[in-house]
Amino acid sequence: MSFLKEIQRRRTFGIISHPDAGKTTLTEKLLLFGGAIQEAGAVKSNKIKKGATSDFMEIERQRGISVATSVLAFEYNGTKINILDTPGHKDFAEDTFRTLTAVDSVIVVIDVAKGVEEQTEKLVEVCRMRNIPMIVFINKLDREGKDAFDLLDEVEQKLGLKVAPLSFPIGMGYEFKGIYNIWEKNVNLFSGDSRKNIEETIEISDLSSPELDELIGEKSANTLREEIELVEGIYPEFNKTDYLEGNQQPVFFGSALNNFGVRELLDCFVEIAPKPRAKQSEERLVKPDEKKFTGFVFKIHANMDPNHRNRLAFVKIVSGEFKRNTPYLHVRNNKKLKFSSPNAFFAEKKEIVDISYPGDIVGLQDTGSFKIGDTLTEGEILNYKGVPSFSPEHFRYINNADPMKSKQLFKGIDQLMDEGVAQLFTLELNGRKVIGTVGALQYEVIQYRLEHEYGAKCTYENLNVHKACWVDPEDPKSDEYKEFLRVKQRFLAKDKQGQLVFLSDSPFSLQMTQQKYPSVKLHFTSEFE
Ligand code: G4P
Repeated sequence: MSFLKEIQRRRTFGIISHPDAGKTTLTEKLLLFGGAIQEAGAVKSNKIKKGATSDFMEIERQRGISVATSVLAFEYNGTKINILDTPGHKDFAEDTFRTLTAVDSVIVVIDVAKGVEEQTEKLVEVCRMRNIPMIVFINKLDREGKDAFDLLDEVEQKLGLKVAPLSFPIGMGYEFKGIYNIWEKNVNLFSGDSRKNIEETIEISDLSSPELDELIGEKSANTLREEIELVEGIYPEFNKTDYLEGNQQPVFFGSALNNFGVRELLDCFVEIAPKPRAKQSEERLVKPDEKKFTGFVFKIHANMDPNHRNRLAFVKIVSGEFKRNTPYLHVRNNKKLKFSSPNAFFAEKKEIVDISYPGDIVGLQDTGSFKIGDTLTEGEILNYKGVPSFSPEHFRYINNADPMKSKQLFKGIDQLMDEGVAQLFTLELNGRKVIGTVGALQYEVIQYRLEHEYGAKCTYENLNVHKACWVDPEDPKSDEYKEFLRVKQRFLAKDKQGQLVFLSDSPFSLQMTQQKYPSVKLHFTSEFE
């Protein structure tokens, strides 16, 4: 197959949802359709069980599974589909944000009864900011839930999306009869007792046809006719360009557990979802069909075996062909590296591959030279943008609890930060080290891993910080900036890249600082124009 065809047949996406909405179940059904797995239950959920915060076995188990499910690839009707796993647990939100830099589109799963939940809101906001094309799947229609129109309204209001329903439910919960597929113009009837079988599909190109009354009863048929009329009246028709530009989001209804509405979603997805897209680097826009290989690291996973510090760096291929045993330039280190055993990912396993294409993810063995965000090329100096750090939510001093092991501690902290487990800030005033995380769970993960993988011990000390803001002065030589640096010295720190960060202790002090020093811009993410 030609290089261009290989690119065009790839779809790389992520499924995002609040925990429990059905992401794992949907992923599994997609894999079943692709014939990549044989039975349900094969995909392990990497969610952390409630109340498992102190259970280190659970953390280890979760880490193990998250390697296995990081990328799930399968073939469907000639299309190569790469699903990138995104942890739903809020403490791992940062991991999900970074993974979103490597997807070309997303599917958002929403629970019909719970509606739009907190985690979904946050993740969709990130996708919206980047104009990532999104398809919404409203799940669990076999249960009682919210009214379909209310839900569509909620999706528009809370998520700021512009929806275009491509299917519509016929009843719900106990009364759930099936789905009218607006996209394919047919009716799919639901049979609740067959949890494995694929549903029955009946062509109904004309909703006024009496056949519909026979199929679902006169009352339901009339309701459906009215509802579809309303849908057509309220919502715009699906427009592929709008979807691809992130200006419109098609919506499907179904029940992942019952395999209902999943094929419709997949068939539409394969047809409309974007092929690998061009990506902006600091230097220029890079197109996937360029001959020379470029890619970037969006995730690093530590080896599960504490005796081997090897890590797996996940690289998204942006352009060209990635070939085994070929020297590539690690741009940040200005070093050529060769990879003898790059891994490609399949449904449940990884395998060494000779060649991979744009849209694919390769896993590279790494002994510590990669950081999240690093770029690889054939020699060109390029730096991909868009793997920013966000302000952490929690901040604690980290102290060395075993003075004999300070070298191990620093090495451990350094490597864990490169993996993106948390962020390290070094205070300007006294050089003390502060760890910032998205969730409290990470502190336990860090402490446990420092001890078990690096033989170092640490303790934490609370620190009252509300938000970390990256400092961006309009004029670094101005008196205003100099005063800011002097007055706020106590609150200033450097992040791991050496960028200056202001650690504000309350929303109020942040506001006061912004008012007092208007020419010093404070950003909540490390990447700004
Ligand atoms: P997540 O990855 O988004 O966290 O969700 P997951 O797929 O694990 O689904 C969460 C729960 O919702 C699971 O039940 C799952 O079986 C159920 N579920 C998913 N899709 C549907 C659906 O279409 N209808 C109904 N009724 N339930 C659905 P659980 O009891 O937490 O786990 P399990 O023991 O069934 O695996």
